[in-house]
Amino acid sequence: MAGRQAMDDGDRGVALVTGANRGIGFEVARQLAERGFAVLVSARDVARAQPAAEEIARGGGEASVTALELDVSSPASIVAAAERVAADPGRLDVLVNNAGVGLDFGVSGTDPDFEKIQATLQTNFFGAYRLAVALLPLLRRSGHPRIVNVSSGMGGVAEMGGWSPGYRVSKAAMNAMTRILSTELAGEGFKVNSACPGFVATDMGAPMGAKKSVKDGAAGIVWLATLPDDGPTGGFFRDGSPVAF
Ligand SMILES: NC(=O)c1ccc[n+]([C@@H]2O[C@H](COP(=O)([O-])OP(=O)(O)OC[C@H]3O[C@@H](n4cnc5c(N)ncnc54)[C@H](OP(=O)(O)O)[C@@H]3O)[C@@H](O)[C@H]2O)c1
Repeated sequence: MAGRQAMDDGDRGVALVTGANRGIGFEVARQLAERGFAVLVSARDVARAQPAAEEIARGGGEASVTALELDVSSPASIVAAAERVAADPGRLDVLVNNAGVGLDFGVSGTDPDFEKIQATLQTNFFGAYRLAVALLPLLRRSGHPRIVNVSSGMGGVAEMGGWSPGYRVSKAAMNAMTRILSTELAGEGFKVNSACPGFVATDMGAPMGAKKSVKDGAAGIVWLATLPDDGPTGGFFRDGSPVAF
């Protein structure tokens, strides 16, 4: 397809959400479908992506909802998924890097588990970064390319405290990636931002006492995924307000 694609009211474009089979990712995919995006509901196990996609499709609307197998910790899976998206639908306007793991919550930084730190970085940082780069050729053809990196206040260096070193470093690295890509892609119309969903009652947050609903947690991510052309880039936001990097 030649040239950059337009996105008007009747054509919101195509969005890919990672880790969309449950939690915040599922709700982001649902809200984007509700707004008329064609959504690629990706999960590391396609058997989990399929029922999630069917549930979102059952929710109504005209949007197309498609399951996609994508394990962001696997470079081969990232390449395969990018090739599939390039073949069909052959278009991408929004990437939401939501997939994430917390493998060392509460672990002391003075007694780190380096294997867990490495595994956390593999998914939360390398997965998101590799995927963004693999999908850049498609995103560059969008008239309104958007990348949202789902980070965490725990990755903010300015106010960083102790414990959970792997999780904190993975999100700080993700935030650095947001700054690097947003700077280099600013001249091409991209909006690349980090989002903290807040303390959300998912499988990850609920055991730690989180009370915020997935609907509210997802809303700030969807806002960044659907920014107008005069919206911010290179920022870090929670519920639409800036937070310290
Ligand atoms: N909940 C909170 O309070 C909170 C706060 C700040 C930031 N966040 C961030 O928000 C994002 C979503 O978190 P959540 O609360 O919704 O967590 P969750 O309920 O634990 O869901 C995590 C999602 O990520 C997927 N995932 C994990 N590893 C993956 C991989 N290698 N490839 C593809 N998908 C993978 C999981 O898939 P499986 O089902 O296959 O495991 C699941 O769909 C994460 O990045 C998290 O760090 C959450």
